[in-house]
Amino acid sequence: MVQRIPKHLVRKGMFIEAMECPNDEFSGRRFYVQSDEMLRAILATSAAYVLVNTQKSMVHIGAAAEAAAATKAEEQKRTLEIVSQSARALRDGFAAVRSGRLEAEALGPVADDISDRIDADPDVFLKVTRLKTKDEGTYVHSLAVSALMMRLARLLHYGEDAVRELGVAGLLHDVGKLMVPNTVLNKAGGLDTDEKRLIRTHPELGYRLLKEQDGISDTILEICRHHHEALDGSGYPLGLKADRISPEVRLATVCDVFEALTSARPYKRPWETRDALNWMFERGHLFDKKLVIRLGSIFS
Ligand SMILES: [Fe+2]
Repeated sequence: MVQRIPKHLVRKGMFIEAMECPNDEFSGRRFYVQSDEMLRAILATSAAYVLVNTQKSMVHIGAAAEAAAATKAEEQKRTLEIVSQSARALRDGFAAVRSGRLEAEALGPVADDISDRIDADPDVFLKVTRLKTKDEGTYVHSLAVSALMMRLARLLHYGEDAVRELGVAGLLHDVGKLMVPNTVLNKAGGLDTDEKRLIRTHPELGYRLLKEQDGISDTILEICRHHHEALDGSGYPLGLKADRISPEVRLATVCDVFEALTSARPYKRPWETRDALNWMFERGHLFDKKLVIRLGSIFS
């Protein structure tokens, strides 16, 4: 008998008849799930469901579902631990940037930890980011953007080195906010013209700070400087148009805006995932629609 189950319920020992995703994403058909690597590859596809042959499987599907429910609470606890630990590591990283002695490699393990978490359960990670407090807002936002960027990059078949580089770029993209007073960043009401101008300096300030550090790649610098550009040229700081905005910057922008919309801020409630994706999709003059669609496939 073939049973259709959500991909997060796939376990080692199951016999997969088919994955509900395009062949160019995952060409495997009729195979046993034998390793964590295979599980990870299945989770990284855009498939929401897979077809499992219950007779050929060496584990019981129902047992897997029960085990998954029992581990859900455990997963959320673990995610909270990783997020607060990573937020502390990132705070140290930002402090090091301020004094001009950040080692970019030091942030690699932070990117790896949160990447593993969002692979384990993207929804859990999003829920956690909705709980963030004012003080750690920029850090938790950066962790979430980093995790989303890595997940989206894997879906788009970036190599593992590039995925990690994008993860670090996500961690550092808002580092320029170090130079913007918290009173402005966390202001609950509307911002006046001067305050808006101040906030809009953060990409350029971050870029200048990062340029002073060792081992920061051009991609990381570019993402930091241009993550608020828009395809029609209405963004900042340079007002670049689509032909001058790289795929990596577009990817960062889409993840950044999505995370900002779906998380709680002092001045707004979190949006539902679907509403945020629709809002962005309707604004193809600002955001790369293809990337919005691929981002959506993570949560389907
Ligand atoms: Fe930003």
